[in-house]
Amino acid sequence: MNPTRTPLVGVFDSGVGGLSVLKALHSQLPSHDLLYVADSAHAPYGERTDEYISQRTHRIASHLLAEGARLLVIACNTATAVAAASLRERWPLVPIVAVEPGVKPAVALTRNGHIGVMATPATLRSEKFKHLLSAHGQGISVHLQPCPGLAGQIEHGIQDDPALLKLIDQFSAPLKAAHVDTVVLGCTHYPFVHAQIQQAFGRDVTLVDTAEAVARQAARLLNDAETTWPAPRRVRLHTTGNAARLAELAARWLPFPCEVAHAPGL
Ligand code: DGL
Repeated sequence: MNPTRTPLVGVFDSGVGGLSVLKALHSQLPSHDLLYVADSAHAPYGERTDEYISQRTHRIASHLLAEGARLLVIACNTATAVAAASLRERWPLVPIVAVEPGVKPAVALTRNGHIGVMATPATLRSEKFKHLLSAHGQGISVHLQPCPGLAGQIEHGIQDDPALLKLIDQFSAPLKAAHVDTVVLGCTHYPFVHAQIQQAFGRDVTLVDTAEAVARQAARLLNDAETTWPAPRRVRLHTTGNAARLAELAARWLPFPCEVAHAPGL
C-alpha cells in the first residue's frame, strides 16, 4: 500500500441495497476511501442460480482488489450465502467482511419465541443460512419468508409504488399469521423500505438489520480510529447499470456526497 494514499475499502451488492451498509461504513470508517460496486445490470441475484451469483461476485471482487481495496465488504446477504466461502478461499490474505441475516440478534430480542426472516430465495435455500439457523435458532420458532421480486422493486426506487406495497403485504401476511414479534430484514435492499415494512407489521414488531454490526466489524479489522491520512476521503459508486439512476438514489438515501460512474468492463 502507498502510505501517502488514503486506504480503500471495497464494497459491493447486486444493486443499490448495499448502500444501506455503505451508509454505516461511512460513519464507522472516517479515515478510509470507499468504493462501492452496484451490479444493477445483473440484479436481482436472489432469483439467479448459485453459479451465476458466484461468477458475478468473483468478478466484482477482482475489480475492487485491482482498484486497491485492502478489505472487502460483501454488502449482500445473497452473495454472502452463495460465495463468501469461495471468495475467502481464493483470497485468503484479504480480510472479507460479509453481511448475513441477523438471526442471532433476533433470537436475543424476541419476547414470544417467534421470529420471521425475510430474504431472497437464494439466501434461504443456502447451506450457509442453514448453518446459521442451526447455530442460533435452536429452541425458537423461525418462520422463513422468501421474498422473490421485492429487491427488484426496491431497485426501482419508488417507495410508495402500489406494486411494491402489494409485495410487502403479501410477504408479511404469513409472518403476521405466525404471530412473529421480531422480523429479520435478511436482504440489504429491505432497510430502504423499513417504514413500509414496519407499517405492514405494526409497531409492536421489531425489525432487525445488521448494517451497523457489519460496519463495526470492518472498523475493528481496520483499526480505523488510529489512522489519519493527509487527503480528504472519497466515496465512489460504480454501477454496471444506469449511473444517473444510481446517483439519484444515492442523493436520496445517503447523507454524504458520492462520485458516481458507470463501471467499465464489469
Ligand atoms: N441485496 C441483496 C441481499 O442482501 C440481494 C438482493 C437481490 O439481488 O436479490 O440479499
